[in-house]
Amino acid sequence: MKTIKINENRPTEHLRKLALQMDADFEEGFGASSLQLKDNRYGEGYMNLYEPFPGMNVRTYNLILKEELSLSLTEHGYSPLYLIFCIEGSYRHRYASEKQEKTVSQGRNLISLSSKNEEHLMTLPANRPIKLSVIVLLRKNLNHESRGNLVSVIRDIVMKMDEGESYQFIGGLKNNIERHAKILVENRRTDLAGKLITEAATYATLAAQLDDHDNENKANELDVSDSELDRVVKLCSYISQNLERPHTIRELAHKSGLYPKKLQDAFQYLFNESVATCIKNMKLEKSKVLLETTDISISSICDQIGINSKSYYSKIFKEKYGSLPKDYRFSFNKSENTFELTYKSKAQLYLSDTEVAELVANSDSANKKLGITGCLIHFGDEFFQLIEGPKSNVLKLYEKINDDNRHTNIELLWKGVRKERVFDDWGLILISDRRGFEDHNYSHELNIGMKSLVQGDAKIAIRDLRFWQRMRHLIIDRMTD
Ligand SMILES: Cc1cc2nc3c(=O)[nH]c(=O)nc-3n(C[C@H](O)[C@H](O)[C@H](O)COP(=O)(O)O)c2cc1C
Repeated sequence: MKTIKINENRPTEHLRKLALQMDADFEEGFGASSLQLKDNRYGEGYMNLYEPFPGMNVRTYNLILKEELSLSLTEHGYSPLYLIFCIEGSYRHRYASEKQEKTVSQGRNLISLSSKNEEHLMTLPANRPIKLSVIVLLRKNLNHESRGNLVSVIRDIVMKMDEGESYQFIGGLKNNIERHAKILVENRRTDLAGKLITEAATYATLAAQLDDHDNENKANELDVSDSELDRVVKLCSYISQNLERPHTIRELAHKSGLYPKKLQDAFQYLFNESVATCIKNMKLEKSKVLLETTDISISSICDQIGINSKSYYSKIFKEKYGSLPKDYRFSFNKSENTFELTYKSKAQLYLSDTEVAELVANSDSANKKLGITGCLIHFGDEFFQLIEGPKSNVLKLYEKINDDNRHTNIELLWKGVRKERVFDDWGLILISDRRGFEDHNYSHELNIGMKSLVQGDAKIAIRDLRFWQRMRHLIIDRMTD
């Protein structure tokens, strides 16, 4: 089992640190950031973070891990309130002061308040899909002007937060949370409409989780037992894995062992939808993922979701998502952000300053043709390079650079997507210590920052990866100000 400890209050930094430890890509935008695991040794999937306003952040997990992962989280000086909903799979949860772990499984709502500075351990399973929505409220940062006067909305729980008590609630399966939480986890649009969808789904999920909490002790009007609902949840997993096949109520009733009427009631209760509408929505959701992540034709998508008519598919897709599938794919692909890759390496000793200048001049014009911009720092016998541009071009170039025998000991410092470029105009600029970093027309600010950074024992500092991490942050801060 892999354990990762994060002691960090700032949500974005929290995710950034996690990305570094999991060797994942990290994308940062306005009010949202995303960690993307691209089938590396930890697994595959993404974790997204949104901060609708100070005091509230939303984390969504959609992962398949290769090894069990235990996340140890401490939010210093706060008693955070977690509202966690498990859409798929299960995970284990424990506060450091507790002996027993609790398993929270699919369809369950966990509302939990820790005491101050308490370590919160969350263990995610290996080799099984896990989808979670996690809403975190930090009482201290929530002010009374927060949207919809949230503080008064969460009344009694906030009282407990004020008293500094720890508190836990795990709801039953009968709740109306899933459909909202699913939108939250599966919405990957980062444009304005995407953000509005996320924000709306956050409030809807929060409201449904609080409703579930409030209704727990009220009489249960529905004549469907928890174990029957469990069967429906399993049935949904089966349907989602077999969307290309037609399903009839009779077949599904038989498979779940429930009468057709009970099956409909349970779907209505869990999803507020009939069985047929629910299956239709599952098909559309799957098709949306295929549009976003593959180049396969619309006809093949229709085959994979078991819809025979392309025009019918386009019509219902537009009804749900507001645009035709091909237009949706086009705008999704167009919104590709800048991909950045940063590494450090050791220059070969024989490499003269003139040869480095020549290398940079050639690279400058080659990069411009590929839409790549960046900088190369030559400091002592160290190279540090930041390149940015279309992802496939940057990765192809990095392969070549990696094979270049003019340098060795190449260490990747960071790769991921950014909303904007750091360098607008330069294909590649050279920043060299040979003339005191001075005779170049890059930002004056950056120049001064670098000089102060390299004061002290630079010879030792530049051997340290953290020095170069700081250099990267300095460049980004000064150049994007
Ligand atoms: C430290 C270092 C940085 C480099 N940066 C770039 C660069 O930004 N762009 C580029 O086209 N080549 C760069 N190169 C050169 C490439 O490794 C490669 O030689 C060049 O792309 C020509 O490859 P080709 O002849 O296979 O097209 C760099 C080489 C080194 C040693």
